[in-house]
Amino acid sequence: MSHAPVFPDGFLWGAATAAHQIEGSPLADGAGPSIWTRFAHTPGMMLNGDTGDVACDHYRRWKDDVKLMRELGLQAYRFSVSWSRILPDGTGRVNPAGVDFYSRLVDELLANGIEPLLTLYHWDLPAALDDRGGWLNRDSADWFAEYGSVLFRALDGRVKKWVTLNEPWVITDGGYLHGALAPGHRSRYEAPIASHNLMRAHGAAVKAYRDIGKHEIGLVVNIEPKYPASDSAEDAAAVRRAHAYMNEQYLHPALLGHYPAELQEIFGDAWPDWPAADFDLIRQKLDFVGINYYTRSVTRAAESYPLNTGVVRQPLGTYTETGWEVFPKGLTDLLLWFKQTYGDLPVYITENGAAFFDPPTASVDETGARRVRDPLRIDYLRQHLGAIYDAIQAGVDIRGYMLWSLMDNLEWSLGYSKRFGMVHVNYGTQERTPKDSARWYSNVIATHGRSLADPLPY
Ligand code: BGC
Repeated sequence: MSHAPVFPDGFLWGAATAAHQIEGSPLADGAGPSIWTRFAHTPGMMLNGDTGDVACDHYRRWKDDVKLMRELGLQAYRFSVSWSRILPDGTGRVNPAGVDFYSRLVDELLANGIEPLLTLYHWDLPAALDDRGGWLNRDSADWFAEYGSVLFRALDGRVKKWVTLNEPWVITDGGYLHGALAPGHRSRYEAPIASHNLMRAHGAAVKAYRDIGKHEIGLVVNIEPKYPASDSAEDAAAVRRAHAYMNEQYLHPALLGHYPAELQEIFGDAWPDWPAADFDLIRQKLDFVGINYYTRSVTRAAESYPLNTGVVRQPLGTYTETGWEVFPKGLTDLLLWFKQTYGDLPVYITENGAAFFDPPTASVDETGARRVRDPLRIDYLRQHLGAIYDAIQAGVDIRGYMLWSLMDNLEWSLGYSKRFGMVHVNYGTQERTPKDSARWYSNVIATHGRSLADPLPY
């Protein structure tokens, strides 16, 4: 970027986390277990046998963590609430200690001038609800609205930006189709049902919010542009399928009131006839959409089940530690696609970041402070913020950026093996050390993005 960018007034700079990935103490103070507690304690499900039992111990260190956010200059913090801390059985009895935890966190954020963005569901369904069929049960829409309503009543006003679901695609693709995430099912028949009920739950929670809340509510999706591996007709068709499956499966019903036609082709006899009335529930007016962006995929036709698509690795591409290609232009492309397809809805980038191998924390700077040098992450962030700026220039209404993640944390079934944080966490001592990327991002925030035009610090 040669000229200093001018981000819109009010553009919010923040960072994101999720309850199960950082909190630890999952059963403390009357909380019930979630599907992630169960999954992590099922042998063979988690890399290295890791669990979320301690994680970043944020449940006990939250005050220090907010202090750290303030020191970094964050203007916003996106976090999620653990449903089974609020309702240990998923419905019915409210656990006041659970509500208090998040209430104190929100107060502390506000006292430090940090705007909370609260996600109701970031994958940790109460285990008691899984016993009743989880997202395969149509009642899940009512369960979710009941849970949301408890939080809307307790926190609306102090929280002004709400998110229903984080990444319904990952919940079903990982949890119900391929089984790599909780609850670990592998069924082409279950996946569409779970997806559909998640969207009904989203709609039911938004409806409940309109009765109780007075501020903003939206949905967070992960989207990943698909580019064809060749100009063959087969690869073009594979791109259509992959794009419909990942990028349109949730946005279409939420914003347009129907599914893309390709889903029938993908799921075949596993794709049900949905009751038309469901779409009235699913399609609610949203105040914003949150987009999580990490990578693109170059797609080809393949025999793989059930999508018949494959991903082609780029020989000259740069890849992160999770094997994802660094491709910032994909973010601009998809933001433009979003605007063309769904119109002028405000957008937040609710996650973006990268896992890279970080060197040990041993080196110290001139002041004696420990340093973690992570130039690849800085480069990744800088390029993606540039891509967002390009989309803003092209007229997309982007209101803020939440870096994933505030700190290293439990990368789901990959355990602690992948570090996405701008703050390093020593899991032995729980010591937090801001990496160079955190110092760099602080400066981006302090200059409202103008420093993106500065040379990189390496
Ligand atoms: C999720 C995060 C996750 C991140 C990196 C997103 O899919 O919302 O919970 O840690 O990607 O994989």
